Amino acid sequence: MSKIFVDACFGKETPYTPVWMMRQAGRYLPEYMKVRAQAGNFLNLCHNPALACEVTLQPVDIIGVDAAILFSDILVVPNEMGMDLEFVTGEGPQFNNPIKTEADIDRLIGGEEAASKLTYVYDTIKLIKEQLAKDKALIGFTGAPWTLATYMIEGEGTKTYNICKKMMYSNPALLHKILAKVTEVVKFYMEKQIEAGIDVVQIFDSWAAAIEPSKYDEFSWKYMVEIADYLKSKYPHIPIIMFPKGIPAFLDKVYGNFDVFGVDWSTPMALAKEKLGDKYVLQGNMEPCRLYSQEETTKCVEALQEIMQGKRHIFNLGHGILPDVPVANAKHFINECHRVSKK
Ligand code: CP3
Repeated sequence: MSKIFVDACFGKETPYTPVWMMRQAGRYLPEYMKVRAQAGNFLNLCHNPALACEVTLQPVDIIGVDAAILFSDILVVPNEMGMDLEFVTGEGPQFNNPIKTEADIDRLIGGEEAASKLTYVYDTIKLIKEQLAKDKALIGFTGAPWTLATYMIEGEGTKTYNICKKMMYSNPALLHKILAKVTEVVKFYMEKQIEAGIDVVQIFDSWAAAIEPSKYDEFSWKYMVEIADYLKSKYPHIPIIMFPKGIPAFLDKVYGNFDVFGVDWSTPMALAKEKLGDKYVLQGNMEPCRLYSQEETTKCVEALQEIMQGKRHIFNLGHGILPDVPVANAKHFINECHRVSKK
């Protein structure tokens, strides 16, 4: 059975424009909070395939999205490379042994050995595929090497990125060594996700905007393209979505063999269409905070439809949904995307 989401990723005509939301499996859903409580904490939930499968399917059943996204986190990759990960409630993720020296990098597990440790992710994918409706797609994902490296070097989320940037400008070879090692693991990781059954790949470069435009290709984009090239050479039928958040000033520089460009909310959709719409299908890009108002949501969905005209487009938010959004408003967003784009 053909999947409308996969068709849309390849730019094929679809009966309506499909929609999903970044971070759609999460804390705004009371059903998610219940399962997380059952798991004990967030990482236990990631490690438990039955429960991770359950929360992956929740937004499909409750909100009516056209694609499920695997429930996991980008940081399980550095965790399995040997970094000590903790999610501190209210403060977010922390690595207790951040990378400081070349020896710290050499100590990390690399390549297929690290990717092979993520069995709970592949087991989750297999379970989801048994239970997900055949006309819905399952999105697998990874963090971009740069975004992963920011956590591995800083040890936690950061506003200034000063430790990574000190390395970028004073010891770029060391930063490249980290990025190359992470890239190798991610290639195997995504390959194993595909072998387990995902239908689509998304690469999240959430912290792209931290890099100055003239350095972005060198320290992030080229590694994302390397991963996409590797996957495309083996699995051309699997669409790839690139989501570099916050690079409206250099859309002209975007290149590479992938299918969908994820447009963040700070980039005007009309600009993205002008610069990239012929080359890539565009995904996005409602400002997630519009979800606090159904009226503002409708206005934005109608404006996006006016620009994209139901062609080479996937509806989404321009970044993740926040935990205090009312479920009814999330449903309203999905319904409005389907209403305005139905042919
Ligand atoms: O629904 C989905 O999108 C699938 C699951 C998913 C999660 N994290 C679950 C999660 C996905 C795709 C991610 C990706 C992720 N993780 C990114 C890239 C996407 C983005 O939003 O930019 C990043 C940067 C992370 C790292 C991360 N994980 C942070 C910074 C945090 C803490 C901040 C926060 O949102 O709480 C997490 C925790 C996290 N990942 C939660 C969830 C549902 C919240 C944990 C909880 O339940 O308490």
